[in-house]
Amino acid sequence: MTTNESFFFRDKTPFDKFTNTMLPKLLKARADKRRIRIWCAAASTVQEPYSLAILLKEAAAKLSGWRVEIIGTDISTEVLEKAKTGVFSQFEVQRDLPIQMLLKYFTQNGDVWQVNLEIRGMVQWRMLNLLDSFSSLGEFGVIFCRNVLIYFDQETKSDILNRLARQMPGDGYLVLGGAETVVGLSTAFQPVPGLRGLYNRGGSGAGSSAASGTGTDFKSRVFAGG
Ligand SMILES: C[S@@+](CC[C@H](N)C(=O)[O-])C[C@H]1O[C@@H](n2cnc3c(N)ncnc32)[C@H](O)[C@@H]1O
Repeated sequence: MTTNESFFFRDKTPFDKFTNTMLPKLLKARADKRRIRIWCAAASTVQEPYSLAILLKEAAAKLSGWRVEIIGTDISTEVLEKAKTGVFSQFEVQRDLPIQMLLKYFTQNGDVWQVNLEIRGMVQWRMLNLLDSFSSLGEFGVIFCRNVLIYFDQETKSDILNRLARQMPGDGYLVLGGAETVVGLSTAFQPVPGLRGLYNRGGSGAGSSAASGTGTDFKSRVFAGG
């Protein structure tokens, strides 16, 4: 039994790490291909991918000409339907979302707030059960898989983590929830020193990426800069 609880910029630090560590490293490492793919697995009502889209929009000047994809998946079609509308209650937007970002990227309509089209247009949705194969999604530089592994038994956690590792290049980042870890579950990831909850692929279980697709059925958004 899982909950669908999620909120914008949940736990704050993973998003700070995205802006301050992951994004600068990926921009440097991908300077030739100018393409970044991000996957939020078990994204619920997708505050997580919308939060990342807002951060990328804030960094638009550095991303001019880059192709960016943010993909949010969840097992629940119900939450994904809500996600697509981008409509959130006052309670949902006031949790961890900075007020200046609320005013900049949302439009108030009575007692609800809708994420602006420019941000909604940056995120694509897909129904996906993490227990099923996800190799066709292709490779991602960043995978957020937060607050879902806690609901699975050890064997299932190991299996999902090992399969996530195959969707990432060696310099990709995995972000887990505050109560989650790879320790004792998978040797395919190693903790990024000093950055709790953040993992690079590596270690004895990693092998090479086996992602079978390049995710070409998803649309890239080319940043115009800003
Ligand atoms: C607590 S929410 C986490 C949302 C978000 N990642 C966050 O941390 O804010 C857990 C989500 O996992 C989804 N979920 C549960 N089992 C799943 C599965 N087997 N495959 C994909 N998603 C699953 C649920 O539908 C729910 O939306």
